[in-house]
Amino acid sequence: MAQQDKAKIGLIGLGTMGSALALNIAEKGFPIAVWNRRADVTRAFHAEAGELADRVIPTESYEELVAAIAKPRAIILMVPAGEPVDEQIAALRPLLDDDDMIIDAGNANFHDTNRRSREAEGKPFLGIGVSGGEAGARHGPAIMGGGEKAHWDRVAPILTAIAAKFGDEPCADWMGREGAGHFVKAVHNGIEYADMQMIAEVYGVMRDGLGLNADAIGDAFARFNEGALKSYLIEISSIVTKAADKHTGQPMIDLILDKAGQKGTGRWTAIEAQHLAAPIPAIEAAVVARNLSSRVAARKEGEDLFGAAPQQIPEGKVSDEMLERALIAGKVLCYAQGFDMIAAASEQFRWALPLPAIARVWREGCIIRSAMLDDMAAALAEDEDRNLMLAPVFARHLREGHVALRELVAIGARYGHPMPALSSGLSYFDTMRTARGTANMIQAQRDYFGEHGFERTDGIEDKHGPWHGHGV
Ligand code: 6PG
Repeated sequence: MAQQDKAKIGLIGLGTMGSALALNIAEKGFPIAVWNRRADVTRAFHAEAGELADRVIPTESYEELVAAIAKPRAIILMVPAGEPVDEQIAALRPLLDDDDMIIDAGNANFHDTNRRSREAEGKPFLGIGVSGGEAGARHGPAIMGGGEKAHWDRVAPILTAIAAKFGDEPCADWMGREGAGHFVKAVHNGIEYADMQMIAEVYGVMRDGLGLNADAIGDAFARFNEGALKSYLIEISSIVTKAADKHTGQPMIDLILDKAGQKGTGRWTAIEAQHLAAPIPAIEAAVVARNLSSRVAARKEGEDLFGAAPQQIPEGKVSDEMLERALIAGKVLCYAQGFDMIAAASEQFRWALPLPAIARVWREGCIIRSAMLDDMAAALAEDEDRNLMLAPVFARHLREGHVALRELVAIGARYGHPMPALSSGLSYFDTMRTARGTANMIQAQRDYFGEHGFERTDGIEDKHGPWHGHGV
């Protein structure tokens, strides 16, 4: 094959995401060589590529794949995170030249990406976070790149061409070295978990507290989507609530078991937040809520023993406006936590993560895309080091919204509606506006039992209390 007829890029793994990404790349004018573990899948993919088939080169061995790509090569891996990625790298590397690039586009744990970057020993390796599900991969995902900047620059023309656009700006950017792209993607997913959980909590109030049917709940979400909450997740919450089951004609949502799945990215975010000592309580609460949701039998036993928790809420106590405002406040707090964690990682790992650019990349294509992200990008561009909740536009949302959030959480507690994410968002807010907190008690206890010492408020140089020497 003459060099000019070769593919501009290769892709391994023709599952849902890989197929969609390959078609997107071909559609944007880049010939692509593809390979899948099962040759029949590769053949079927090519046969179904329609008018894009001309730009797709199906291959049936690693050798054939490598030979079909123009040098210096770039090959995207879109295989399940974990061992499959290492297996593909091990199989490919011996066949590649030293300047050929491997790009892991799956949902890798960023620690694995750090390790793989080291193991690449200078040979080009990128770890890129790709968000937007199947539709995003096919028509424009958000892309968070990690690795050497020079390596990113080499494939940036392809990655920015296939990415979603906010106006003219591609939602694809370089986040930093090594696993920075996958780290940012993990925080994206943590925020995704909290955003989804808060929506689910408000859904619960409407369903169990106000007795609204699915259609009416879908209408409420559609209304929310016209204001500050405008976002993909609110939009699809309306769509899924209003959809009818094709088997029974009943609202689909009412027939879905209340047991949330998870592949692990939200959990990684929560674990990493603890390592970084970055406070992300709403995100952690959302992970816990998913874990609890899977305890279906235990929850049933609990209900049999104690009676069902959520009770009907008396009329007039909860309005649409209260729910909307509470969600706005919750959302601001959840993003403030996510960006705070990114800032902590940036310092800890010396990555210099570009906070405003991250908000810009998330404005389109990804699952958490929302109108608010444009304001977040502007607020972070103004001052990267300021917690988002203190930026004027978000401080205004919080001033208007925290009363509603407080009332809703109080009503939730009074009438038995669990609100782990919203209530931890509220606690975060209250903690973050309490100049004199209660950790002086913790310090006194620590000093009593362990002589750990404390700082005094009055500047006197004495680290211990009068109990010094009396500890256990
Ligand atoms: C995205 C999504 C995507 C996916 C994850 C999360 O940004 O496109 O986050 O990566 O939905 O697999 O899934 P879990 O809910 O299973 O953790």
